[in-house]
Amino acid sequence: MIQNPDGRKSISLDGNWHYILDPYQTGYLDYRLKPTNEGFAQNAKAKKESDRVEYNFAKTPTLHVPGDWNTQNPVLLYYEGTLWYQRDFNLKKDPNQRYFVYFGAVNYECHVWVNGKKAGQHVGGFTSFDFEITDLLHDGDNFIVVMADNTRKRDAVPTVNTDWWNYGGITRSVRIIETPKTFIRDYYVQLAKGDSKIIKGWVQLDGMVGDKMVDVSIPEAGINKKVEVADDGFASFEIDRVKLDLWSPQNPKLYEVIVKSKTDEVHDQIGFRTIEVDGNNILLNGKSIFLRGVCMHEEAPFRSGRAHSVAEARTVYHWAKEMDCNFMRLAHYSHRENMVKEGDREGMLLWAENPVYWTILWNNPDTYANAEHQLAEMITRDKNRASIIIWSMANETPLSDARLKFISGLVDKARSLDNTRLISAALEVYHPKDRPNVVILEDPLAKYLDIYGCNEYYGWYAGFPEAADNITWEMKYNKPLVITEFGGGALYNYHGSKKTRWTEEYQEDVYKHNLKMLDKIPFLRGTAPWILMDFRSPKRVLTGIQDGYNRKGLISDQGQKKKAFWVMKDFYEKKEREYQNK
Ligand code: GCU
Repeated sequence: MIQNPDGRKSISLDGNWHYILDPYQTGYLDYRLKPTNEGFAQNAKAKKESDRVEYNFAKTPTLHVPGDWNTQNPVLLYYEGTLWYQRDFNLKKDPNQRYFVYFGAVNYECHVWVNGKKAGQHVGGFTSFDFEITDLLHDGDNFIVVMADNTRKRDAVPTVNTDWWNYGGITRSVRIIETPKTFIRDYYVQLAKGDSKIIKGWVQLDGMVGDKMVDVSIPEAGINKKVEVADDGFASFEIDRVKLDLWSPQNPKLYEVIVKSKTDEVHDQIGFRTIEVDGNNILLNGKSIFLRGVCMHEEAPFRSGRAHSVAEARTVYHWAKEMDCNFMRLAHYSHRENMVKEGDREGMLLWAENPVYWTILWNNPDTYANAEHQLAEMITRDKNRASIIIWSMANETPLSDARLKFISGLVDKARSLDNTRLISAALEVYHPKDRPNVVILEDPLAKYLDIYGCNEYYGWYAGFPEAADNITWEMKYNKPLVITEFGGGALYNYHGSKKTRWTEEYQEDVYKHNLKMLDKIPFLRGTAPWILMDFRSPKRVLTGIQDGYNRKGLISDQGQKKKAFWVMKDFYEKKEREYQNK
């Protein structure tokens, strides 16, 4: 995909799009279930009174793009299936330029037509993609039609069972990017693994390679590197003895980086930092850190639905900072680009995850190819972001050889695309039968990981809050442990005894007991409680308490802080002081 669409000449297609609900895919399948381009993709209009055209986008209601369809119309709240989008747009076409339609994300599967001609299709609800439409465009009036389908499927990634709302539609921005005939499609500019003195990277041109040189410059750092381009448009480079002000949560320093070819120029804001593990320590710029984290879904504060704006990103980061966080686990799928770029600016360390969630079809090669493709798209888009320090391969997946083969394959793929960041996954706790109060961290998958991520729910799914008091932890590997989930549910403002589930006092007690247990673990290097804010989930049906929301937030969906929020803040302030002296 085209790297850094914000740094390109483009026109936005955001706004109101007409839509047609099509649960039977009438606009795509003929009555023999054969796919056709002659359906709604043609955006046909009856010209003569006798014409039989059985749809008319111009007369249909609209949905706002970006935005899930579920929270824009109560009729669509639980809708899962196919929905068509259509809009007209005008474009002054320059014959010397190329044009691409770029989607931030469409959940889950989509087919795209421009002026009735197929532009492309995509699977995966959380990653960006683009299609070249130069030959499909008219100079002047044009129209685009998108068929989106968020039907859950057993062989999909994620599969049919998730504890989050299956928000459907064009959930992130759409734009048309204009480029020269030969343009800078992709680039990678980062510090070499574990070395803050060397920048390593590459540039990929797309189109006829006339000029054999590209420039990579960082004016503020006095860096200007000329790089030879191979016939396939690829140019790799290494710049040593660089002197850079390193990016960190305390100092989220970003440099303007300019990648320039004979016909194209792209500007980006990039931070430079190193991230490594050393035994069970996590080193940021060579210094041991504790990840003071929290988990977050891409759920919009206050209005619910898929978040998509910079403002919503800032709200979430500011809440996390109020809790003295320096780290956020973006669960359980790739979040939008402006969330990650805001992480760069805010100085928030990020965990980015591929939606290999719970029990997917480990033996299905198409499912593997799909998971690998989504992983590659996530890494491709965000590989220049300093804030992302960890690529996560999966969440709470059951032990089996097939699962081990599947996920270790993804680890190899991730390392082949980016060897500068750490690899992890959210694993589960297991107790040896004869030692019920001992957690042995020995998941075979951890052999392939840099960080052992582990979810635990003592006091909620496992026993009562006191259950945590007698638990001790042993690790089979010499690796850092990050508790990637713990916590319990509470309805904001529901108060009572700490023995009463769903009260703020019960949740507060869960946190107190868990933090006491976790703080005794010598190889613990981070925590990310589940979760910063209550979020919608169709699995949460307890009337008067959940009402379609997972209530494990430390903050309600309306921004109200629960008692446990302050327990977490105190713990992090203590941890921050502890690590300052390290
Ligand atoms: C799981 C899972 C989350 C889920 C949470 C919960 O561990 O990873 O996606 O929402 O627990 O049960 O609340």
